[in-house]
Amino acid sequence: MTDVLLRGRLLSFNDEPLAGEESTGVFTYIEDGGLLIRDGRIVAMDDFAVLQAGDGRNVEVKDHRPHLILPGFIDTHIHFPQMQVVGSYAGALMEWLSKYTFVEEQKFSDQGHPERIASAFFDELIRHGTTTAAAYCSVHKASVKAFFAESHRRNLRMVAGKVMMDRNAPPGLLDTPQSGYDDSKALIAEWHGKGRQLYAITPRFAPTSTPEQLQMTGTLVQEHPDLHVQTHLCENTAEIAFVAELFPWSRDYTNVYEHYGLLGQKTLLGHCIHLTDAEIGAIANAGSVAVFCPTSNLFIGSGLFDLARLRTSNPPVRNAIATDIGGGTSYSMLRTLDEGYKILNIQGQRYHPLRSFYQVTLGNARALSLEGVIGSFTPGAEADCVVLDARATPAMRIRMETVETLVEELFLMQTMGDDRSIAEVYVAGRAAKSALAN
Ligand code: GUN
Ligand code: ZN
Repeated sequence: MTDVLLRGRLLSFNDEPLAGEESTGVFTYIEDGGLLIRDGRIVAMDDFAVLQAGDGRNVEVKDHRPHLILPGFIDTHIHFPQMQVVGSYAGALMEWLSKYTFVEEQKFSDQGHPERIASAFFDELIRHGTTTAAAYCSVHKASVKAFFAESHRRNLRMVAGKVMMDRNAPPGLLDTPQSGYDDSKALIAEWHGKGRQLYAITPRFAPTSTPEQLQMTGTLVQEHPDLHVQTHLCENTAEIAFVAELFPWSRDYTNVYEHYGLLGQKTLLGHCIHLTDAEIGAIANAGSVAVFCPTSNLFIGSGLFDLARLRTSNPPVRNAIATDIGGGTSYSMLRTLDEGYKILNIQGQRYHPLRSFYQVTLGNARALSLEGVIGSFTPGAEADCVVLDARATPAMRIRMETVETLVEELFLMQTMGDDRSIAEVYVAGRAAKSALAN
């Protein structure tokens, strides 16, 4: 296969830029950069002139100047069956779930529906510059098959699983402790490690699982300790009160997951808004990840994620950021960063643009325990890239006239950007956005 050499302004993070602009060495920025890709992986990131000289091999140069090239964006919490839930006019979480979400997810037992949505779903991720996601499928095995088949066909690095839920939902969405376990086992055997696909054990959340199901989920985790676990935690106060009714013996909501052995370093906990100090301690000690879903938290009216409180605990809680489509309102990690900035700002917490772009690349890769695999341009990493255009719209173009620094440009992109700012996307070294049908 011919090598590919991307030319443009390269930005890749080596660590979290906690000190903002004062951070040195935590990121690499090359003004006239070259990114050499061979067989879907990064070979080198250097000055274009250095790499252009080459070593005699055939190289196809793709010139993206004056755009920025970053590692592809990573979305750490998204619901694949909720494409047709986005923007549903509901009240808080429990009403939103029963009135719209559970209704929509039942359609995933219909012939052909999961396949049609899977195709639209990955088109949308690519259009928005997202090259990896941790996704919830529906309770139906067919939804997971459709998801992974399409992801595998496109050679995307994806993490996903069948939701397990055996109570407090319509009959068409319920499995049983045994069938949830058996279906998950079969899907793990078929998909985990196939190409770039990774399986995530996915109990939806404590209210929709019986103790028996959570027990069997714990068994699955013991049998597959290398797999991700994803679920929801403390998103909404009514949800928390319901968990206290369902599990009266439990110290708190987090303790339910802890009790069944579901808190580990590969556990992704969506939302984590209304946590007690004891819960923060338990999550931090387990090394689990709190996933911030800003557009969803605002849209469903769930509350304000308190990043500073999580990060100043000892040890700190690991964190990630995500869209949470279809509670979330945009597939764009840029829109997500913008809303996240506002949620933190209103709490007096500033979030530097360098940290934002670290988070949606290396930060989220670390949260998924995939550092070195995705999220940076380190040699050997998979060559998923996003090409960003800060002048994508007339309003951005006129604003860019007064922008002088890289940090200002990043902040403008996060504040005004969306899918129009995604000039191109590379998946394992292949152009993917320009290859979309529309
Ligand atoms: N809690 C349980 N299921 C869901 C879901 O689908 N979306 C959100 N936002 N919260 C949940
Ligand atoms: Zn969710």
